Amino acid sequence: MSVRAFRSMRPAAAVAALVTGILALSGCGGSSLSQSGDTQSSGPVKIGLLVPLSGVYAQLGQDMRDGFKLYLDQHGGKLGGHTVDVVTADEGEGPQTGVPAAQKLVNQDHVSAVAGVVNSATALGLRDFFDESKVPLLVANAGADDITGARKSLYVWRTSFANGKVAGALGPTVVKEASGPVYLIAADYAAGREMVAGFRKTFVAAGGKVAGEEYSPFGKTQDYQPFLSKIRTSGAKAVFAFYAGAEAVSFVKQYQQFGLADRIPLYGTGFLTEGGALAAQGKAAVGVKTSLHYSTELNTPRNTEFVAAYSKAYSKSPTVYAVQAYDTAAVLDKALAKASGGEKLATALTGVGPIDSPRGRWSFDADHDAQQQYYLREVRAGSGDTFVNAVVGDLS
Ligand code: BEZ
Repeated sequence: MSVRAFRSMRPAAAVAALVTGILALSGCGGSSLSQSGDTQSSGPVKIGLLVPLSGVYAQLGQDMRDGFKLYLDQHGGKLGGHTVDVVTADEGEGPQTGVPAAQKLVNQDHVSAVAGVVNSATALGLRDFFDESKVPLLVANAGADDITGARKSLYVWRTSFANGKVAGALGPTVVKEASGPVYLIAADYAAGREMVAGFRKTFVAAGGKVAGEEYSPFGKTQDYQPFLSKIRTSGAKAVFAFYAGAEAVSFVKQYQQFGLADRIPLYGTGFLTEGGALAAQGKAAVGVKTSLHYSTELNTPRNTEFVAAYSKAYSKSPTVYAVQAYDTAAVLDKALAKASGGEKLATALTGVGPIDSPRGRWSFDADHDAQQQYYLREVRAGSGDTFVNAVVGDLS
């Protein structure tokens, strides 16, 4: 296939083509990958943890590792009565690294299930592999719309969010608050395109007008000035952005340095101002409003207890990434109590009831996604020289 033909494909199709190439090169066709995954009822189980430990999302991967480990530490290293051996693999920056890493976990390490996956492009590349391998995949971050819902598999479950839902939750609020058209900007890959589409859908349906739309090359953009210049001359009265990790730091800092923060309010999905990104942005992020299903500032006994335990264990505040991984361990805890691998474990996931999470109670919906509350957050000064995502409202 030519590079031009590849570039003109829809993100999901392009990723599927890329993965077909990777599978062909590695000699691993999906049909030869089946395994029952069954182990003795109370024997040890191996769980694969596939998270980025390198690239723009490395900090997110570290938070997920910490969240998963905290749950295990709080439960004597066991899930569902089984001692757990966690095998960690580096997802890297996308499917080129994430797909072979997942294949290794399943084919060589013979894990009973895989948890993790940050990047939507990786998740899109893995959906068919797990469906055919009959090993459960619990997606603990990546929001790719096309791995659940109409394309749901008994073997693929998501404990985090769908891109269209977390971004769509913000549209009507921006219509109410913005004094004119809104500019849309995101990292140019599956998640960025889907976040913008999800936001645009509810925003336009509520009467909003779009001033312009741009996508910056994912993982390669350090200087956002050309994009910020277009925003400045577009006549936009607000901006919606999707960036996460290292890219969120650069974008938000440059937005302020370029003089836009005081003139054009910045909105986004919560990944824009989450955890290590917010700490690095500092006062440049004050006033940014986002939609997300978690904040350290949620004032509930469950969250207070979680924030205290996480802060004590890691000397830093938790993040949505840590909570999603923590909850994934909680889901596995319930399912592994009923079955230890293969189709039986996947079927047990169907019966996992509500999860009493630091984000609030949530359950899997019929699409295999988390049915949950989204919150409107605003960056404000915290204690000392810290900054927090204050919860300023509920979103539906
Ligand atoms: C994604 O690729 O789906 C994603 C990555 C980072 C934060 C949120 C979503």
